[in-house]
Amino acid sequence: MSGRNTTAIAHPNIALIKYWGNRDNALRLPANSSLSMNLAALATTTTVEFHPDLNADGVTIDDAEATASARERVIKHLDRVRALASINTKASVISRNNFPAGTGLASSASAFAALTVAACAAAGLQLSTDALSRLARRASGSACRSVPGGYVLWDSCNVDDCSYGRTIAPPDHWDLHDVIAIVESAHKATGSTEGHAIAGTSPLQAARVASTPGRLERCRAAILARDFPALADVIEQDALAMHAVMMTSVPSLLYWRPATLAVMQAVRAWRTDGLAVAFTIDAGPNVHCICPAESSAQVERLVRAIPGVERVLVSAVGGGSHVVA
Ligand code: PMV
Repeated sequence: MSGRNTTAIAHPNIALIKYWGNRDNALRLPANSSLSMNLAALATTTTVEFHPDLNADGVTIDDAEATASARERVIKHLDRVRALASINTKASVISRNNFPAGTGLASSASAFAALTVAACAAAGLQLSTDALSRLARRASGSACRSVPGGYVLWDSCNVDDCSYGRTIAPPDHWDLHDVIAIVESAHKATGSTEGHAIAGTSPLQAARVASTPGRLERCRAAILARDFPALADVIEQDALAMHAVMMTSVPSLLYWRPATLAVMQAVRAWRTDGLAVAFTIDAGPNVHCICPAESSAQVERLVRAIPGVERVLVSAVGGGSHVVA
């Protein structure tokens, strides 16, 4: 096959209803459905070229050679694409994030969404958005939610065929912002792949999973109705349910820093005072303050003033992954 050079762009997403734990770790079939929004201001741009002259895959991330574990994960995913395209050709992968390295936001979601879209196009595969999302899921569960645009629901489903992200509302449906309080930039001690694998050791995981459909429905309804108070309650409850599972799993995962809690408490106090803002937190210490665009500047200013907040990023809701060149 000839060397076709293809570039794709993808945005990370922030889950409003969290995915934590798999019913099938190998296929990354989730224990529960989840719902997220893509983040327009943050992006991964990835160029893939399959070239017959290459005798090994090359992986460059943010202008440096990838670590052995990142390289291995990328190669595994290239192998999935090669199997679908019935080729053996090695590839060069060059990936860049526009969000600064070392912000603790090194998102596997945008990385594997961009890789999936670029590699499939470079291999000459013409897959639907649903099929691309399903394929991205195999590399990183949350990557399936970065393939379609806007507000995305990843339905829990116990077979590969129906487990992918679908848009429930486009980005312009509701102009929400994510004001991200970065309280620690260091790389997380336990990544989500290991975290998913131990979720079931927490006695709280079964209760979290059983109660997720109710929260998901409330969250979906709040988004469709643009009902911020309802959204605020349900996303905070869902993030706390996930962190309760993390804290009580074996080994215990305690991601919060003192500044994490300071931001959470401040968000609650601001909301009591009438400001529309709510928090959610992924597998790390940084706090995502979700608010309507109208509150965003004030939330940003308030968050910056909290001791322990190292930097703040602000993003609107983003579109889906796509080929750019
Ligand atoms: O896709 P993964 O394996 O990186 O898992 C993502 C897990 C959380 O970010 C904590 C929650 C979520 O739904 O995105």
